[in-house]
Amino acid sequence: MNTVTIAKLLDPILKVEHLCRNFGGVKALDNVDLAISSGSITGLIGPNGSGKTTLFQCISGVDRGATGRVWLAGKSITGLRPHRIYRNGLARTFQLSRVFPQLTVLENLLVASTSKLNQTERALDLLRQVKLESYAQALGASLSYGQQKLIEFLRVLMSDPRLILLDEPAAGVNPTLRAVLWDMVKRLNARGVTFMIVEHNMQVIEELCSKVIVLAEGKVLIEGNFREIRNNKQVLDAYFGRAR
Ligand SMILES: Nc1ncnc2c1ncn2[C@@H]1O[C@H](COP(=O)(O)OP(=O)(O)OP(=O)(O)O)[C@@H](O)[C@H]1O
Ligand SMILES: [Mg+2]
Repeated sequence: MNTVTIAKLLDPILKVEHLCRNFGGVKALDNVDLAISSGSITGLIGPNGSGKTTLFQCISGVDRGATGRVWLAGKSITGLRPHRIYRNGLARTFQLSRVFPQLTVLENLLVASTSKLNQTERALDLLRQVKLESYAQALGASLSYGQQKLIEFLRVLMSDPRLILLDEPAAGVNPTLRAVLWDMVKRLNARGVTFMIVEHNMQVIEELCSKVIVLAEGKVLIEGNFREIRNNKQVLDAYFGRAR
């Protein structure tokens, strides 16, 4: 079977229905419905506090206080613990990087391994791809913030996920490493990996994403391709300035 056939069988790879999450009086997620096509890259945008991170927390099972339903490739993952969801092929990075400071870079990648077979080679190969192989034996703590974010991304790749949620992966990362990161996302996507990405840079969103979902105050304000969402007045005001 080719990649396209497999993608069709898994479609939609992610489905979310009536997702709600309240914090005290704040409706961080207010009845969110969405579906992500297998093999796509979807951008998730919206102002600060609109619920983007909360959505990732609830989908990935890290936050289990939501109501609603979530399916991964047709299988309900509602209420499952994060490690079970992870084992089903959904991985995510955190908005603030989580590298183990006292482990080496290589060990930081190996902690995620589901099987030990050839994993060291695999980790070194990933490090090579982002030109960080010389840091393999360095401590996590010795890396720059941008390097740590990249390592967190590589760690996620170690488990061969089919869907990856990235929460502002390029924030605090220098332009060179950013280019490496986005290039890697493109290459993985070409091999069938699905992405959902929170990113504030609209150029990146336009270049990478076949679909964009805009959140505002916990609700899906609009979804569509870049042109469609770009012409929405609220999106224009928030991201492109009022002049346009
Ligand atoms: N653990 C929590 N306890 C209380 N309130 C929370 C918690 N997590 C999020 N919130 C609130 O929920 C709302 C959505 O927050 P969230 O972090 O999901 O927004 P965001 O879109 O990711 O914002 P940003 O662009 O700043 O990262 C905000 O009002 C936030 O203050
Ligand atoms: Mg956030």
